[in-house]
Amino acid sequence: MLWLYLVLCVTSALGKNIHSSGVAPIVKLNDGYAMPRLGLGTWLGILTTGSPEEVQQAVEAAIDAGYRHIDTAHIYNTEKQVGKGLKKKIEEGVVKREDMFITTKLWSDAHPRDAVIPTLNESLNHLGMDYVDLYLIHWPVATFFELGVVPIPKSVKKNRVEENIDIFDFELTPEERNLLKSYDANYRTIDPKFWKKSPYYPFNN
Ligand SMILES: NC(=O)c1ccc[n+]([C@@H]2O[C@H](COP(=O)([O-])OP(=O)(O)OC[C@H]3O[C@@H](n4cnc5c(N)ncnc54)[C@H](OP(=O)(O)O)[C@@H]3O)[C@@H](O)[C@H]2O)c1
Repeated sequence: MLWLYLVLCVTSALGKNIHSSGVAPIVKLNDGYAMPRLGLGTWLGILTTGSPEEVQQAVEAAIDAGYRHIDTAHIYNTEKQVGKGLKKKIEEGVVKREDMFITTKLWSDAHPRDAVIPTLNESLNHLGMDYVDLYLIHWPVATFFELGVVPIPKSVKKNRVEENIDIFDFELTPEERNLLKSYDANYRTIDPKFWKKSPYYPFNN
């Protein structure tokens, strides 16, 4: 699955390091912060069939199952449900805020410099949090567990949420890794030509 992001450095709002990675191992980011190597996705899709309430239930089920990384975005309309789910689990004493790695994203209508902090504050308000652990520019640019990928499978079904984190008791064989890598043909669903002159454009080679 391809999805494109560029990390936005809003360091004042970025959070403290996580204290517990839950079930998933962690990956150390370039700035020293730690991120659980699997998270819960909360985008309900373009042809939405799920309800926002299902997202709150999925977040609660995910935390109970050992997820400590939740991915949301301003444009998903799920930040409030993520916040409510986490708040409930904090109140129940299952986790502390600092155990969790919460990601949200700046939508494309708020790229002007003076729109960024207000939009971040709006997301924090929706989440009921005073920081997020990662704030991304939703478009563009880009970012695979054993292949170096951090998967964030989305499901609103408790059994699937549990099934999707139950992947840490096996290793891929070299043949399986090579097979999976062979699918990476540097194909882009959307060719981000517009940013080709940026020094941070990752697809020039
Ligand atoms: N796709 C994108 O363009 C994109 C872009 C930016 C960010 N993201 C982030 O990445 C997350 C994941 O991407 P995604 O939501 O596009 O797709 P996905 O996680 O690849 O697939 C989600 C679909 O798979 C189903 N599913 C989940 N676990 C399953 C299981 N164990 N067995 C069978 N089916 C299962 C879900 O159905 P149920 O919910 O009914 O279980 C849902 O229909 C997003 O939620 C979002 O947080 C995605």
